[in-house]
Amino acid sequence: MEFNEVLKGRYSCRRYQEKPVPAALVEQLVKKAQQAPSWGNTQPWRVYAAGGQTALAIRQDLVRAHQAGEKETPDIGMPAGFSGDMMDRYRDLGRALFKVLGIGRDDHEKRSAHYANNFNAFGAPALVFVAVPAGETAYAAYDAGAFVSLFCLAAAEAGLGACIIAALARYPQAVRRHLPIPQSESLVIGLALGWPLAGAEVNAFRSGRSPLEKALVMKGLE
Ligand SMILES: Cc1cc2nc3c(=O)[nH]c(=O)nc-3n(C[C@H](O)[C@H](O)[C@H](O)COP(=O)(O)O)c2cc1C
Repeated sequence: MEFNEVLKGRYSCRRYQEKPVPAALVEQLVKKAQQAPSWGNTQPWRVYAAGGQTALAIRQDLVRAHQAGEKETPDIGMPAGFSGDMMDRYRDLGRALFKVLGIGRDDHEKRSAHYANNFNAFGAPALVFVAVPAGETAYAAYDAGAFVSLFCLAAAEAGLGACIIAALARYPQAVRRHLPIPQSESLVIGLALGWPLAGAEVNAFRSGRSPLEKALVMKGLE
């Protein structure tokens, strides 16, 4: 596939088929994502992938922890909100997603069910967790982000859907019950991975981007 096609074709997939993702395919995606640049080629990422009963048990544990109102203890601090334009964009995304999902503004029950579905990784048959050595600077997470970006593009090229999901990293102790992520590593993020459910409206949703001038300042370029 052409790079532009992959770039345009990638989106956050939020409904999946039950069909499993083969281990060999996950290996290929990780191998491709390993091409990501990192500070001094340190490659701080460690990837923990789960499928089958393991993925199911993790999803169930995360949903349980969320619904029981357990205190969230992410290894890396998570934003409670955003400033300025970022908050506007965050709200715009939420509004657009709820509209596609047919969830009304005041439908608190459906809103909570959708939020809980994040912890369920939207039912994805495979989960991918990315960790970095604990105690490193923010640049290790930066490098992990570069890795995750390539991973998502590689997944799109393979016809797979993926969604980066912060909720999957809110209860690292629950993830550690099922995957051998040592305490010497910080869980950065989790991803849902699977074959997109064709025809699901939420998978036809595409988020927008700000105009270029909001992101780019140029000087001295011709
Ligand atoms: C660090 C990070 C955390 C995210 N967490 C969630 C999440 O918890 N739930 C969700 O539905 N999407 C989550 N996303 C996906 C974003 O909402 C999505 O990337 C953004 O809206 C742009 O849309 P696109 O990926 O479809 O282009 C996350 C993305 C990133 C990079």
